[in-house]
Amino acid sequence: MSNLIDGKAISDQIKLEIAEEVKQILAKGGKQPHLAVIIVGHDGGSETYVAHKVKSCEQVGFKSTRIAFEDNITEAELLAEIQKLNNDTDIDGFIVQLPLPKHISEDKVIEAIDYKKDVDGFHPVNVGRMVIGLPCFVSATPSGIIELLKRYNIETKGKNCVVIGRSNIVGKPVASLMMQKAYPGDATVTVCHSRTQNLKEICLQADIIIAALGSPEFLKGDMVKEGAVIIDVGTTRVTSTETKSGFKLKGDVAFDEVAPKASYITPVPGGVGPMTIISLLRNTLLAAKKEIY
Ligand code: GUN
Repeated sequence: MSNLIDGKAISDQIKLEIAEEVKQILAKGGKQPHLAVIIVGHDGGSETYVAHKVKSCEQVGFKSTRIAFEDNITEAELLAEIQKLNNDTDIDGFIVQLPLPKHISEDKVIEAIDYKKDVDGFHPVNVGRMVIGLPCFVSATPSGIIELLKRYNIETKGKNCVVIGRSNIVGKPVASLMMQKAYPGDATVTVCHSRTQNLKEICLQADIIIAALGSPEFLKGDMVKEGAVIIDVGTTRVTSTETKSGFKLKGDVAFDEVAPKASYITPVPGGVGPMTIISLLRNTLLAAKKEIY
């Protein structure tokens, strides 16, 4: 049986580390880090995520501001709000929770955010800087994955790393980080996606698999080599009678089949998920310390 990568425990530990740093900043008379979150409409998933983000800010001693709009807000109105936050010197960083209603361009919204306050790391300046290894805000999920590999001392140098999924917020950035001349990194990276042929053969060569395609239990036991490290990024909400909320999160990995073969594996929930908020908190701290400019 494999070692379980406990993202919840690691994230609790990092929250304590961040809280300690905030205390020290305040003790020296510094300003309390301040994150603002814009949410548009009433998407159930988004409301839950934003509530978690606000609560986590409180836990580490940040100030947070939740700014909510109905889904009939116009693109121009939202862009004007972003300008306001760009110019508000009390706000160190802010995010616009995605997805947005169809009449609003997510690309325009992301590009309107001052990259120095883009603690989601979605702005093209931050993405470009990440690719060439310059100081930047790295987006939450890739940075959470890298932190888990680091905290578990998992060897990545020279390893075959297969990323399944090519999204802008996970697949592309995590592939880029895993090939970076660094630890974790220095891996030989293959990116697979919906058009990939021989996906199973490619996965069977992998020492590390990062499954980020959003298809529940896609990665089966017979696609995984003995001893592989498995990182499951999937968080598909499926309805369930087993939970109070009426839904359950399912990963991209068929856990029961894959876990016995893996050397390390992240569970869903409790693996990558809790780490994503940590990345947002760390980025907000970096923003507050003006470390990205
Ligand atoms: N929607 C799903 N994940 C994210 C995230 O990391 N940031 C934002 N802004 N929206 C999301």
